[in-house]
Amino acid sequence: MFTDALKTDAARVLAHLDGVIAGFDELPVTRAMRHAIAGGKGLRGFLVMESARLHDVAAAHALWPAGAIEAVHAYSLVHDDLPCMDDDDLRRGQPTVHVKWDEATAVLAGDALQALAFEMLADPRCHDRAAVRAELTLSLAQAAGARGMVLGQACDIAAETAETPLTLDQITRLQAGKTGALIGWSAEAGARMAGADITPMRHYARALGLAFQIADDILDVEGDAARAGKRLQKDAAAGKATFVSLLGLEPARARAKALAEEACDALSPYGPRAETLREAARFVISRDI
Ligand code: IPE
Ligand code: IPE
Ligand code: MG
Ligand code: MG
Ligand code: MG
Repeated sequence: MFTDALKTDAARVLAHLDGVIAGFDELPVTRAMRHAIAGGKGLRGFLVMESARLHDVAAAHALWPAGAIEAVHAYSLVHDDLPCMDDDDLRRGQPTVHVKWDEATAVLAGDALQALAFEMLADPRCHDRAAVRAELTLSLAQAAGARGMVLGQACDIAAETAETPLTLDQITRLQAGKTGALIGWSAEAGARMAGADITPMRHYARALGLAFQIADDILDVEGDAARAGKRLQKDAAAGKATFVSLLGLEPARARAKALAEEACDALSPYGPRAETLREAARFVISRDI
């Protein structure tokens, strides 16, 4: 079953990342890093592993970019939860880093996780060819930074105090950055490592990323906080701009479903070998966590 495959890969990627951090000195900031990487679904790391499989890239290599993207994602969540951002005290069923330690440790653990991601991509064990390592590094920098995830997060925060509600187009762009950029990089990583054309994976991930964030926004409205491991029913009160706030629940659900189908269609060049990635698309819109 897909969820078992996801769990297996997530555990492998987490163990790899933990192994790398185990070499660091035992300090509050490194303990906070370990706390931050644990307990997630591991979808982004799984996408790296599966796209690597699809392109015949060895798992021993793929674990490096898979660990890197989970480190960047964990950093983004630690900072997203800070009082100056979404101000959340619960993440993955555990206290957030600034609650368990303090704000300075949360900022620094996030910073260190981001640096660790690039360290892992530059590590010769990631890929034999330096040019591929450089391409992975460059593309992740673009996906994570002010043209990617950070841009989306900045628009998300700005929308809270915007005088007029965002348009559908603006929300699509916001979400493409906030969530789409890292998911996109994950799905493309295997193709990049193999030196293959990244176009089909790019189309797959664009639709998948948007479907994923719509599902997150729907979960915020009608999810079970105990299952999700984070506070819900917060977006509307905070004035977040989401597909749900603009379209309403049912049209948002229909949109997520159409996007998941679009993601599956984008995989047609791969034929039946991409079935696990199609299952991932179906999982993304039906999940309750
Ligand atoms: C949560 O991402 C934040 C968003 C980008 C919507 P996930 O739902 O993948 O969180 P974890 O990693 O499983 O905790
Ligand atoms: C977080 O989006 C996206 C990033 C951290 C880049 P949300 O703020 O919607 O995520 P949750 O709902 O707190 O997990
Ligand atoms: Mg947020
Ligand atoms: Mg948040
Ligand atoms: Mg959310």
